[in-house]
Amino acid sequence: LKKVSLFDNLNDEQLEHILRISHRRTLPAGTILFHEKESGTTFYVVLSGSIKLFTKSGSGEEKVLSLVNGGESFGELSLLDGRPRSASAQTLEPTTVLELASEHFMNLMQEHFDITRGILAELCRRLRATNEHVNDLTFLDGRTRVLKNLISLANKNGKRDGNMISIPMSLNYDELAQMAGVAKTVLTEVVRELEQRGVLQFGINEYKLNLLKLRS
Ligand code: CMP
Repeated sequence: LKKVSLFDNLNDEQLEHILRISHRRTLPAGTILFHEKESGTTFYVVLSGSIKLFTKSGSGEEKVLSLVNGGESFGELSLLDGRPRSASAQTLEPTTVLELASEHFMNLMQEHFDITRGILAELCRRLRATNEHVNDLTFLDGRTRVLKNLISLANKNGKRDGNMISIPMSLNYDELAQMAGVAKTVLTEVVRELEQRGVLQFGINEYKLNLLKLRS
C-alpha cells in the first residue's frame, strides 16, 4: 500500500485499517472488472499489474481511454456522482487490486483530507490529459499522434538503458491504434516505418525505442 500515492500521508495504523476494510483480489489477464453503464459500487486501487479503461461505440468499436498501473486507482466517478460507470475496466496482465466498497471509500474521503485532495488532483490530471488528447485529435496528423502516444507510454512505463527505452507492453495493435486515435492501417504503417529505421523494436510483451535514432 505504501506505493499508492493516494495513501502517501497515512500512517501504518491507518494503512492497516484500509487493508481490513478492503478486499484484495488477484485476477488473470483479460478479466473484466466492470462494464460501462453498469452502476458503480466499488473503488479500485491497483497494487500490481495493469488495467485498460475503455468505452465502446454503438457499433462495438473500442476506444482505450487510459491505462492504470500499480499504485494508481480508478472507479471513483460513479461513486461520487451516482451515475453509471463511464468506462469498462479490463486487466491487461495478471493484476492484483484492492476493492473498496462505496461507503468505505466515502468514509475515507471524509476522514482524510489528503485522500480527498489526491482524488481531486487525479481528476485534474485526467481533465488535462483529456484536453491534450482533444487538441492532438484536432491539430496533429495520425503519424504524429502514434509517435506521441509511443513516447508518452515510454515516459510513463519505460526503463531507460543508455539510448534505449524498454516499455513493458501488453497492448495489441488494435489497442495502440485506439489510444492514438488512428485507424489500425495508420498504426501499422508508422510501426513498419519505425522498425525499418531501427527506431522501434517489438519483442514479446515489450517494445524498445532507440532515442538517438528517434531524434535523427
Ligand atoms: P467510473 O465511471 O466509476 O468507472 C470507469 C472509470 O474509469 C471512471 O470511474 C474513472 O475512474 C476512469 N476514467 C473514466 N474516464 C477516464 C479518462 N478519460 N481518463 C482516465 N480515467 C478515466
